[in-house]
Amino acid sequence: METLSLHGGFLKRVLSGIQPSGDLHLGNYFGMMSRMIDYQENNDLFCFIVNYHALTTVKDRYVLERNTIEAAMDFYALGLDPEKSTFWIQSDVPQVCESTWLLSNITNVGLLERATSYKDKLSKGISANVGLYSYPILMASDILLFGGEVVPVGKDQKQHLEMTRDIAEKFNQQFGETFIVPEPDIDKDSQLIPGIDGQKMSKSYNNTIPIFGDEKKIRKKFMSIVTDSADVDEPKDIDSPIFHLYSLFLSFDDKKDLRERFLQPGLRYGDLKNEFFECFWEYFRSFREKRDYLQNHKDYVFKSLDQGATKASIVANEYLGKARSAMGLNYKK
Ligand code: TRP
Repeated sequence: METLSLHGGFLKRVLSGIQPSGDLHLGNYFGMMSRMIDYQENNDLFCFIVNYHALTTVKDRYVLERNTIEAAMDFYALGLDPEKSTFWIQSDVPQVCESTWLLSNITNVGLLERATSYKDKLSKGISANVGLYSYPILMASDILLFGGEVVPVGKDQKQHLEMTRDIAEKFNQQFGETFIVPEPDIDKDSQLIPGIDGQKMSKSYNNTIPIFGDEKKIRKKFMSIVTDSADVDEPKDIDSPIFHLYSLFLSFDDKKDLRERFLQPGLRYGDLKNEFFECFWEYFRSFREKRDYLQNHKDYVFKSLDQGATKASIVANEYLGKARSAMGLNYKK
């Protein structure tokens, strides 16, 4: 769906969701959150916290409640503006479950069985519930029900996006033009964010650096970023986790300087880690203040989320109405 912008041009609807996995980290920030926040300036941004999806794995109600609201506050603190975007908690627009059912009836079992993320979980011995199996249909529903045109995701979500496109095309073919077929927007750079052990930064590898939290604890994480055993007077490796991580915070010129310092003798990893920590701490300072403010003003947070859900519902109801009608559920004629 195209929305006329104030400038007379047309804004693209950019849409994406994020799992409320607790303690959002630098991988989430540079991989997805900061990109989404930038998109709100010149696009029609739709962004949500996928707590229905989290039900496939999280079984503790208190953990899910906490992670959901914390993820929302993190987004607001980092600059997501509820006036410029549509931001909501997935379960506040339950229409998405009805459309999941509608889409389930045009999705082949074979398509879901080929999903690599599902197969991976099975191969790890996780006994799959039906929720996990049909995860891609709920995700398709998330995108199609809100008319998402461009969907920024990590590379690991590429297949889910292809499935969404398949489902949309099939629906349109079978029941008439109803849904927009979305385009994925996969950022190559987001794959480069290493964790403190050098593997991809991910909660499941326990190698993350959180954005917010206790100063001492975070400093300790910085200190344990893996480095090689190069001596002070030897050049250092610029293809190392610390170089890549620090670079995320630097301008083009400062990155060039860092490169020089790595390639010349004299650099001590211990000093560098302290310097990097200070840079990180300063970078997020104002966000941290906003985060603390929100923590003490939950009423503002809840109100903003309600407004977001109301805006999102208007779009959802429109698409759902069309889909119900196209499939024959509106019998009163
Ligand atoms: N599956 C996505 C992930 O784990 C999260 C997600 C759910 C999503 N629904 C979405 C992403 C819709 C983009 C659009 O990262």
